[in-house]
Amino acid sequence: MRHLLPFRSAQPARVPRTRPLIARAIPGGAGTGDAQRPRHPVIEVHEVSKVFHLGQIRVRALREVSLRIETGDFVAIMGSSGSGKSTLMNILGCLDIPTGGRYLIDGVDVSDMDEDDLADLRNRKIGFVFQSFNLVPRTSALVNVELPLAYAGLRGAERRERAERALQSVGMAKRMHHQPSELSGGQQQRAAVARALVTNPSLILADEPTGNLDSHATEDVLRIFSRLNEEGRTVVLITHEPDVADQTKRIVRLSDGEVLEDRRLVGVHERPPAPHPQKSAHRPAHAGSASVKAGR
Ligand SMILES: Nc1ncnc2c1ncn2[C@@H]1O[C@H](COP(=O)(O)OP(=O)(O)OP(=O)(O)O)[C@@H](O)[C@H]1O
Ligand SMILES: [Mg+2]
Repeated sequence: MRHLLPFRSAQPARVPRTRPLIARAIPGGAGTGDAQRPRHPVIEVHEVSKVFHLGQIRVRALREVSLRIETGDFVAIMGSSGSGKSTLMNILGCLDIPTGGRYLIDGVDVSDMDEDDLADLRNRKIGFVFQSFNLVPRTSALVNVELPLAYAGLRGAERRERAERALQSVGMAKRMHHQPSELSGGQQQRAAVARALVTNPSLILADEPTGNLDSHATEDVLRIFSRLNEEGRTVVLITHEPDVADQTKRIVRLSDGEVLEDRRLVGVHERPPAPHPQKSAHRPAHAGSASVKAGR
């Protein structure tokens, strides 16, 4: 893997010539009110393969996967352990590069970018959330959330103010001075989500963000993801849990490195919330069984 961290830690990312490194506003900045705007693919994966070499063994983690994700979509990637979900997510997040095929993000072929451009792109456009939270230990939630802004070169006062707002937006106003070890799993994950959204990214990528959470904390985190999506952000999450996937708009199922199924869910986002929400009562009507089996 070429990059292990979603953002560089040693020095500030190179500021791109024509675009601001970090968008200014947090709430809704990635596309509030863009329902009228024509949708365009933020992610275009064309026949992407990934082969890992383990000594003499070749592991084909992805086999000519093609996937198109439009701005504002909310996608769950599912599949059994080892089916290639994290490998695909790492490629989508430009944390790893494919062995074959093409990956375009906002119409730009990632293979045309150098390391600095990729670091800029990750800082500017992508927010990452991981199953194990990946917060820096012995450091307050507030300082953790400030980190991506520090790497982007923002000054102290603005950095602090934006980090505080991001933490408030995930219900962490009263816990922002606590260190990770003083927070529950759900609170740590909400801090991690605040860290992902503090740079106002248009794309949120989450690898099993609810994998270590109980059902209550899972609901909290999912509600935040849904809100971020309603604000116009594209959200892609990996999950093993059908209840979690059912709250997204689309399910892409991988099997043995291939897209086994790509199914859009209808109804769940149009319906008014039930008066007494219960997890099982939220199951959406599925849009038929249109499934795609990629050729091997
Ligand atoms: N860095 C690596 N080196 C060698 N093989 C790897 C590497 N990363 C992943 N693999 C292999 O690629 C395949 C897909 O792995 P991946 O981590 O994408 O699966 P996953 O669907 O995310 O599984 P899980 O649900 O367990 O997280 C597996 O067979 C795995 O062993
Ligand atoms: Mg994985």
